[in-house]
Amino acid sequence: MIHSSRWFISLGIVFIGVSVARGSDSPAMREKTSPNVPVVLNVLTSSKPLRNGVAIRSGNAILEINALRDDVLRIRVGLNGKLPEDASWAVLQDARAHSIDVSRKDSSSTVGFQTAALRVEIERSTLRLQISDLNGNVLQEDALPVEFRGDAFRLYKQMPIDEHYFGLGDKMGPLDRRNQAFTLWNTDAYSFQESTDPLYKSIPFFLSVREGRTTGILLDNTWCSNFDFGKSIDGVYSFGAEGGPIDYYIFSGPDPKRVVETYAWLTGLPPLPPLWSLGFQQSRYSYETESQLRAVAAKLREDKIPADALYLDIDYQKNNRPFTVDPEKFPNFAQMLGDLKKQNFHVVAITDLHVARVENQGYTPYDTGVRGDHFVKNLDGSIFVGTVWPGPSVFPDFTQQSTREWWGGLYTKFVSDGLAGFWNDMNEPSVFNTPNKTMPDSAQHRIDEPGFQKRTVGHRAIHDVYGMENSRATYEGLLKLSPDSRPFVLTRATYAGGQRYAATWTGDNSSTWNHLRMTTPMLLNLGLSGFGLSGADVGGFVGTPQPDLLTKWIEIAAFQPIDRDHTEKGSAPQEPWVHGPEQEAIRRRYIEERYRLMPYFYTTVEEMSRTGVPVVRPLFLEFPNATADAHPLDLDAPSEFFFGPDILVAPPKYPDELNAYEVKLPPGKWYRYWTGDLVKSAQPELVHPALDTLPVYVREGSIIPMQPLTQSTGEVPQGPLTLRVYPGKDCRGSLYQDDGKTMAYKRGQFLRMKFTCELGDGSVKFHIGSHEGPYQAWWDQLKVELHGWDYDTSFVTSKGQLRPQAGVDDREHHTLTITIPDDGHGNDLEIRQHP
Ligand code: NOJ
Repeated sequence: MIHSSRWFISLGIVFIGVSVARGSDSPAMREKTSPNVPVVLNVLTSSKPLRNGVAIRSGNAILEINALRDDVLRIRVGLNGKLPEDASWAVLQDARAHSIDVSRKDSSSTVGFQTAALRVEIERSTLRLQISDLNGNVLQEDALPVEFRGDAFRLYKQMPIDEHYFGLGDKMGPLDRRNQAFTLWNTDAYSFQESTDPLYKSIPFFLSVREGRTTGILLDNTWCSNFDFGKSIDGVYSFGAEGGPIDYYIFSGPDPKRVVETYAWLTGLPPLPPLWSLGFQQSRYSYETESQLRAVAAKLREDKIPADALYLDIDYQKNNRPFTVDPEKFPNFAQMLGDLKKQNFHVVAITDLHVARVENQGYTPYDTGVRGDHFVKNLDGSIFVGTVWPGPSVFPDFTQQSTREWWGGLYTKFVSDGLAGFWNDMNEPSVFNTPNKTMPDSAQHRIDEPGFQKRTVGHRAIHDVYGMENSRATYEGLLKLSPDSRPFVLTRATYAGGQRYAATWTGDNSSTWNHLRMTTPMLLNLGLSGFGLSGADVGGFVGTPQPDLLTKWIEIAAFQPIDRDHTEKGSAPQEPWVHGPEQEAIRRRYIEERYRLMPYFYTTVEEMSRTGVPVVRPLFLEFPNATADAHPLDLDAPSEFFFGPDILVAPPKYPDELNAYEVKLPPGKWYRYWTGDLVKSAQPELVHPALDTLPVYVREGSIIPMQPLTQSTGEVPQGPLTLRVYPGKDCRGSLYQDDGKTMAYKRGQFLRMKFTCELGDGSVKFHIGSHEGPYQAWWDQLKVELHGWDYDTSFVTSKGQLRPQAGVDDREHHTLTITIPDDGHGNDLEIRQHP
């Protein structure tokens, strides 16, 4: 049953003095509505049950709701008698083609249907849509009718007082989007600050969380869109776009992880990245010469700061022209890459999308691009020229398949030279010296893409997806050039679904404590929005960090998916060794810990590549019911986050805070990561902040695989695989390994292991699964570190053989360490208290 009190109140507030369309005067009768006079969809002319949903007519307008799965609905509205085309840059064709049979459920006041999970009701008298679960919990409910103003539309939904909103990519502000409004229009936001909006990316997807139930909403529209979570109208959230289709998806969890997984089902998974991209990455704008880059590499190794990647920013190019190398600054480019490779360094080069407009100079990207008709045009058919780093530049028309293929081919030489990854920057696209910082609205793009009607559109229609198609062209091009290597692409601008092609970073942040603080909600919301592989410039891009800030940043970033130290031109050096040996020692220790955790981290990343569940996670993703009233625990603990499923990182709310603070731990038992001892649940966990400490916790029941320290992921670890066991409820862990670089894992060349543990009275039974898959392990021994073990002497049974074991070797932290062989066939280990 629909409760309508707020409906009419809201209607009164919003529509005073405004004509509301009725009957044959409905919006559908008009080709275009006037931008100044809103018309609304609130009259049901007829309804038709469909096998997979319902179709409603309102005059000439059509509203169709289809069930793709029991828990996934797609809603489209079309004026002029037809639905928007069934095409998308974001949502996979397979998902869109999915459909299920529904049961028709009409009443005297509503039409609608039911699936095995959801109930859909549309009020006959108002066209108001309500979606609930089968227990009658309303998941989403229109607050006002769908509204049109010219080409623009807006949808209004009820905003219960206890509902919270997450996602929308890395938009600024707190994790919860409630009471804020955001514009999605990809923008080069150099030096963005806390209130800056829009930013670089447009990911029109959010999760609503209420009473422990999570619902996902994706508005698939590449025009400038806007999301307002109760900022303009009390008790109402709304979203809309300035043009393009009303095409949106609602999907119910109710578990938040399920919503994130469903979002990945709709928009795709991030591919398994090369292992080296998970190592520490060192960048700056710019390492200008070959000798500078070699010196950075040498210093990293000399100072024993583990690292895997080095970046070349625009100054390696000749006159800032993409796909060139300045032969004076980098005289032995391929040789240099080869030498660095021998030291296990992978080099990532920037390849901006703007192509220098230089005629008759033998500049291949320009010459072949003109020849192939690959550049964005003006209305009069001439090529659009805008100024960026190389001066006058032209822009590939990435919404054309043929242009993407041509772009991909431009990487041929770089790939054969040995560059390992590519960085697609400036792809909002950023254009200098223009009022809107991007292309003019009149720029003409050709859409030539399966599913879409082939056509030419003005820039605004595709602006928000342009950067994503740039990264797609790069990714697909690299795959074509080396089908057996995992591409690594880092993009700045993107759209929903962009996770299929690239990792991302948050753009030009600043070297301030506040920016370090804001990094956490940005990366968490990016992860919820499909981008599980993301980072922020460590140390900050704009400005120079104070020593303590860089140190703290490196500490926290050691637990974030992409860990790249990067800074702008003109700032002071920002590598870990600046500011002297004491600071460097702390920084090294955290980077080292990232490397020790690599087996756990990589296992998490592999899981992400199958499920879409991100590496860093808000607390509510792991513990949706952590609080008595089911509000997300993150609201009380805004700086905390999960690194993978089991490790909780808890910096102070303000990272420069010096006063003691209380860590909010989700329900259950928690161990302190650094010492292995158990947190006494009766007492609050009080932390006294210090420069060299970062509170990290492990949940009970975790088994964390770790490895001996290496200086890069390319180095084979020497020694046993460590399994840190934190006994408790539901004790389990897993491990995934493969060669870290090729596609052989797709042909079965990997290794998986599963572990469980069971806590008895004075005993722990520990099951070590056999090696699944043929990939050869680098270890032949397991070092089991059992935490929370308090007994003086023990017996151990391994492979059926009993042996006495010396007692706890770390009494202070109640930790017992046992090393046993691992022949790959599994083991049942029992550790017993001495009788
Ligand atoms: C802007 C990017 O955001 C930044 O990371 C890069 O260093 C500069 N462009 C120069 O390429």
